[in-house]
Amino acid sequence: MNKVILHTVMLLAVGLPAIAAPDGRALFESACVACHRQDGQGGIGLPLTKTKFARLSDDYLYKTIRNGRPGRIMPTFDTLSDAQVRAIIDYLRTWSGTESFNHPEIQMTGDAARGAKLFSGYCVNCHGVEGRGLGKGTGQSYSREREFKVVPPAVGNTGFLNSASDAMLKDVITNGRQGTLMAAFGRLGLDEQAINDLVVYLRSLQKQPPPSQQQAVMPNASVIVDSPEDFDTTLENLKQALSGYNFRVFPDRSLEKGLFPEWEENRRQMTIRYCNFNDLYDMLKIDPRLGVGLPCRITVVEQEDGQVQLIAMNMAVIARLFNNDQLRDYAVQLDDIQRQILEEVTF
Ligand code: HEC
Ligand code: HEC
Repeated sequence: MNKVILHTVMLLAVGLPAIAAPDGRALFESACVACHRQDGQGGIGLPLTKTKFARLSDDYLYKTIRNGRPGRIMPTFDTLSDAQVRAIIDYLRTWSGTESFNHPEIQMTGDAARGAKLFSGYCVNCHGVEGRGLGKGTGQSYSREREFKVVPPAVGNTGFLNSASDAMLKDVITNGRQGTLMAAFGRLGLDEQAINDLVVYLRSLQKQPPPSQQQAVMPNASVIVDSPEDFDTTLENLKQALSGYNFRVFPDRSLEKGLFPEWEENRRQMTIRYCNFNDLYDMLKIDPRLGVGLPCRITVVEQEDGQVQLIAMNMAVIARLFNNDQLRDYAVQLDDIQRQILEEVTF
């Protein structure tokens, strides 16, 4: 899974291929599949199933892709063109076999204070205080590395509330989501007014989207530097530098297929994985859904002309894609250290 995530993040960050008529499938596979998985069963991201899609509008999907869920890993895809976003939705629709379900416009009246009480009684255990989700920052504090249990989404999240209409909220609360932990509260004793109160309460949690950070242009996700030495010496120097920074270096591995497609052909290449468990644990505490998805790896590549290069991930960029400030701060620190190491090796 790590590989897939990294691949996705790479593609996201270096820019998706410019294509004349956007290919929804290719876009989904490069930008979404790592978190939502091929068959839509969900992983880090929520399941994108046929049953669910039957009750979602294209408008909601469009806005969800555009707004993302700041602080909840679902990226803000603001660098995709309109045509690309629509191509992704069309692709998902062919795949789910459902059409846009357009909820009727409704005028919602209700009592937010009463809704808040109901929320504390019925919803808070799964959706967290003020719908912020469970756990510190973004996720429940258990590891989901192996079992991809669905983490209840943050229903108070601005990205979500900016995407969902009142009618959709009402629909989900009333009818639940079949086959998930989200029950049909309309059949569990909540009458229509109680559900309206909940919707009005959720709406009251909506804040304006955070400024400008969203619009930022992605800098390149990979850092590439030339080495003055040959392949073996570079590799050795790199390992020494990493140990010097108290990283644990894992056994050599040749580069995984698909991670850096451009460098795949027959060149000498080796990926060094390194890790500082404290950092890793701290990151997992911020968001356990990451598993060990964050990259601690540098690849040494020998080009055809003999030039040796070191390729690392720009972790600050990658962390930004995960839409989480705390994680970003962490990644910026790690990125600094990684830069120092690269300088040491290539000096
Ligand atoms: C037992 C846990 C649980 C409880 C209790 C619960 N939910 Fe949910 N809820 C979920 C899960 C899990 C999902 C996501 C299901 C999916 O889409 O796969 C969800 C989805 C939702 C969604 C849709 C969010 C989205 O991102 O599409 C809304 C809105 C929602 N819940 C509101 C509520 C409200 C309001 C209550 C209280 C009346 C409530 N939930 C109680 C688990 C729960
Ligand atoms: C880095 C991981 C990640 C990537 C990449 C990602 N998502 Fe998500 N997505 C999530 C998470 C996590 C959530 C749920 C947010 C929460 O838990 O509050 C989500 C939620 C969603 C939802 C809401 C589902 C619902 O039940 O309401 C849709 C739709 C969605 N994503 C579509 C996409 C599409 C389309 C792409 C690609 C363009 C994409 N996502 C890329 C992680 C991701």
